[in-house]
Amino acid sequence: MTTSTPALAADLKSFIEGLPKAELHLHIEGTLEPELLFALAQRNQVQLPYATVEELRAAYAFSDLQSFLDLYYAGAAVLQTEQDFYEMTASYIGHCRSDNVRHAEIFFDPQTHTERGIGIEIVFAGIARALREARDAHGFSSAIIMSFLRHLPEEEAFITLEAALPLRDQYRDLWIGIGLDSAERGNPPEKFTNVFARCRQLGFHLVAHAGEEGPPEYVRDALDMLHVERIDHGVRSEEDPVLMARLAKQRTPLTVCPLSNLKLCVVNDMTEHNLARLLHAGLAVTINSDDPAYFGGYMNANYLAVAESLQLSRTELVKLTRNSFEASFLPIAEKQRLLLELDGYCMAH
Ligand code: ADE
Ligand code: ZN
Repeated sequence: MTTSTPALAADLKSFIEGLPKAELHLHIEGTLEPELLFALAQRNQVQLPYATVEELRAAYAFSDLQSFLDLYYAGAAVLQTEQDFYEMTASYIGHCRSDNVRHAEIFFDPQTHTERGIGIEIVFAGIARALREARDAHGFSSAIIMSFLRHLPEEEAFITLEAALPLRDQYRDLWIGIGLDSAERGNPPEKFTNVFARCRQLGFHLVAHAGEEGPPEYVRDALDMLHVERIDHGVRSEEDPVLMARLAKQRTPLTVCPLSNLKLCVVNDMTEHNLARLLHAGLAVTINSDDPAYFGGYMNANYLAVAESLQLSRTELVKLTRNSFEASFLPIAEKQRLLLELDGYCMAH
């Protein structure tokens, strides 16, 4: 990894750090830092193939999405109790507060846990307890998006949905949407047409990962077959000019994750990232951290990396944070409140 771009000026760095922002693409299991992973392994008597935190961290050298997913699913095996999910989520909220993330829409993958015999109610309860506590204590705004693993059959997504639906009333304040993640290539959106149709009928917001490693056709099919409202990643949309024009016209949000793209070799160098080109083409792009414990940084680290490598201006950075609030699934009055806070921040700085 080389970079020949100049370091960020100190005033731009502190401007970015203080910007109010929303995170719309974050896998809670991807916030499990090696230190907590080790502590939970010890508490739950799970054997790890690494002797130290440093050894584990050194294994975070990925060649593609699958090489990451193998480690990520293995790491999630230390999560066993409600308290484990609670501590992981509380730790992520701490990072949000330091990075001035005002609102987060958080993915979780129940199948990663139910496959190991952990009840779906344990997963919901631990995540929700931390989010509700942060809302009550600090006014931290959040929502959860239950995601299906696309490497598994659609039938198993239906089973997961049926297991989760009895909990809907209990988590109506948080559970707003359905997502689709895991290994993209060879698992096209059309595989999940029926279960997404059911989720749509149930009134959930819909999103899907597409165009991360998969081709632009997967982005188009996620829109046309799954009827998603946002695309997670979507960076490969740039290969199809017709799709680009459509995304710009419809202002379909793309939740882009720069450090993730670098770590998973979607781009070779941050200076080659297409985020600025997507923004200039009129797409509603946002910056997000994806799996920050694995990819080297939370929200501000992602903003700082692209600001430096792509030499983004204040206007471009503010546009990206504005997009994050506009693309959120918050009620309109909440969006307006956060956009006003952003305006106030810009006037004061
Ligand atoms: N699950 C966690 N992170 C992911 C990513 N970047 N792409 C697909 N599935 C994921
Ligand atoms: Zn993701």
